[in-house]
Amino acid sequence: MWEALKTHYAAVHGREIKNLFDDRRATEFSARCGDLLFDYSKTNIDSAGRDLLIDLLANAKVAEKRDAMFSGEPINMTEGRAVLHTALRNIDGEGVYVEGTDVMPAVLETLSRMERFAEDVRSGAFQGAGGKITDVVNIGIGGSDLGPAMAVKALSPYHDGPKCHFVSNVDPADIAEVLRGCDPATTLVIVASKTFTTIETMTNARTAKAWMGQSVDDPAQQFAALSTAGDKTSAFGIPDAHVFGFEDWVGGRYSMWGPIGLSLMIAIGADAFKAFLRGGQAMDLHFRSAKWEENMPAMLALVGVWHNQVCGYTTRAVLPYDNRLARLPAYLQQLEMESNGKRVSIDGQDLTVDSGPVVWGEPGTNGQHAFYQLIHQGTRIIPCEFMVAARGHEEDLHHQHQLLVANCLAQSEALMKGRSLEEAMDISGKLGFDGAERERQARHRVFPGNRPSTTLAYPQLDPFTLGQIIALYEHRVFVEGAILGINSYDQWGVELGKELATALQPVVEGRESADGKDDSTAGLVTFLQKNGL
Ligand code: F6P
Repeated sequence: MWEALKTHYAAVHGREIKNLFDDRRATEFSARCGDLLFDYSKTNIDSAGRDLLIDLLANAKVAEKRDAMFSGEPINMTEGRAVLHTALRNIDGEGVYVEGTDVMPAVLETLSRMERFAEDVRSGAFQGAGGKITDVVNIGIGGSDLGPAMAVKALSPYHDGPKCHFVSNVDPADIAEVLRGCDPATTLVIVASKTFTTIETMTNARTAKAWMGQSVDDPAQQFAALSTAGDKTSAFGIPDAHVFGFEDWVGGRYSMWGPIGLSLMIAIGADAFKAFLRGGQAMDLHFRSAKWEENMPAMLALVGVWHNQVCGYTTRAVLPYDNRLARLPAYLQQLEMESNGKRVSIDGQDLTVDSGPVVWGEPGTNGQHAFYQLIHQGTRIIPCEFMVAARGHEEDLHHQHQLLVANCLAQSEALMKGRSLEEAMDISGKLGFDGAERERQARHRVFPGNRPSTTLAYPQLDPFTLGQIIALYEHRVFVEGAILGINSYDQWGVELGKELATALQPVVEGRESADGKDDSTAGLVTFLQKNGL
């Protein structure tokens, strides 16, 4: 399979993407799901290449693996767990069984408890020591932070609840700056941690409890917990009525659809939160039923595989022309890189192709004035994934939104078409250069073009659409991981650093010597200690 794709790539890689266009290409190399349009026509994929990519799906048994995931089989085999975040958004769906038990009644019961709690906080029925809650501080990291933080920003036009803040970093600067702006008597602290052992989160949670305890008699009453570890939340003193549990078949980076989304629900209300779930559910239905060539997550994944594993482009830029998606690249970094940054296949063998790519990005148009220079004229090719809405939420500033859209479309056009030496010579001539200097100047103004990009377009960034988009990317990760034959649902690669940090803490605090550490680490400890550590 890979050989056939590489051979095809070798045969076509020199051709111009812009020359592939006829009057059907834009339609035929697009996928639709509801109101979403995914256009991948500005890539070097043609019908033959797409057929070969689709063959990968059959070869990797992606349909069978997808069905195994949705039906609760323990596909996370290194942890012996099912992967069922999809059950959290299956709100109007059928039963979902894990080891013979339907998990949906418990999922729906937790959702109603969240709803009641969120509405009480929003209405003022739930009171802090100083009355109605004005601020919510979500303390969590990784999947217990990035999803809700991204979504609260993305859906700010729907935000009519208390102010939401997010604290993730163990760097005291993070929590200090957030708490400085909050009144302990009217703040609700949500401790979001699947395991309730993560050192950053538990350290920040204790700091927040001490802060609140200075002026509130019973601070635990103004705490809520989102976790799979009910014993640990009680040991922390959080009342059971404020604890929202979930099961270990919800991976951290896939968890914003359930209790980890509580801050989002408090911000936008239960109805809007359920619209978000329904968007995710709609994408699930599409992923399970659409033919591969019309299947948006599958095609998004295959374009990714084409660029990364076949063409050898090692990064991809996510470029939302939607400022409220500013945290999406960070969210996708965890989703994609923690899931598919694996070097061995499920059976423990070294991968024979590259693992998932480096994912990065910034909203447009900001990125245009920062790193697009390299994307247009650098020596490396970076596939770009543009995202854009037809409408913003600022109706009175629609003309400004149109300028945003023009920029987005212009970038993908510029990447594809480029500017030839001939055109650049014309420009340098008009600038008054002549002779050898005219060509020298022109060469700096050449854009090689032929650089691939995709565009995801949608009517407006509302809760339903955001749900569709997040579920789309989750399934993309699934398909890419299935093709690579890896386990996308564990994250052993984060463990070693955590263990070494724990071992280094007494050294850093000066309670143990740095003997036995490598010279670099010991030297850095000495330098920092001499400078006030
Ligand atoms: O360290 C990685 C990780 O385990 C992520 O996968 C997870 O999202 C994050 O830490 C936070 O974990 P928890 O929700 O258990 O605090």
